Amino acid sequence: MESWLDLALERFDEENDPLVLRTRSVLARVVPDAPLHARLINTLSMLEHMGSHKIMATQHSAGIDQPTLKHVAEEAHHAWFMKRQAEKTAERPLEYVPADLLAPASARMYFQRLESAMTRTLGRQKSLRAVYLYMSMIVEFRALWFYRLYQQALKRAGHPMSLRRVLGEEQSHLADIANRLDMAGELSDARAAEFLAAERRLYERLLGAMQRAAAAA
Ligand SMILES: [Fe+2]
Ligand SMILES: [Fe+2]
Repeated sequence: MESWLDLALERFDEENDPLVLRTRSVLARVVPDAPLHARLINTLSMLEHMGSHKIMATQHSAGIDQPTLKHVAEEAHHAWFMKRQAEKTAERPLEYVPADLLAPASARMYFQRLESAMTRTLGRQKSLRAVYLYMSMIVEFRALWFYRLYQQALKRAGHPMSLRRVLGEEQSHLADIANRLDMAGELSDARAAEFLAAERRLYERLLGAMQRAAAAA
């Protein structure tokens, strides 16, 4: 099991290698610019909030278990953490409105398109629980990858914000979810690879939109 995840993480890194430089350059442009940086952090807050909301909206059966409740609590905490950091950086309250966000339409589209791709593939035979597990797992791959690059960019810019706790939690979500899919007999390497490829295309579009928004700011 653990070896499946290790291999999948290795493959994810390889496949996303062409996106590392572009992501680093967007972060290097955004992080030192406080008003722009605040918009990025607020966008991450919105995505974390959407993630926790999606878990709540789909996982409300009587059988909801501890890992799911822990997951929703931690994603909600990430949304709050990012909002607090964003407002500290902006030195004013921020809302999830276009002027306070970075490429918000693409950020929302990233989530929605990913979810509908999965529902299309899994929805026919599988439960909402399988959609939740796959969706969470795929998003956690990206969260971990992105937050690592973000942490490096913060360090390089001498920024005091630390993502240590968030990174630790995303890492344990990923391991936990892969394990739950495996226990349920639903973990398929081919399916995960297919979803990760779709996710990569969506992330690339989001990255392009963030790049343009940062250049225009
Ligand atoms: Fe999160
Ligand atoms: Fe997470």
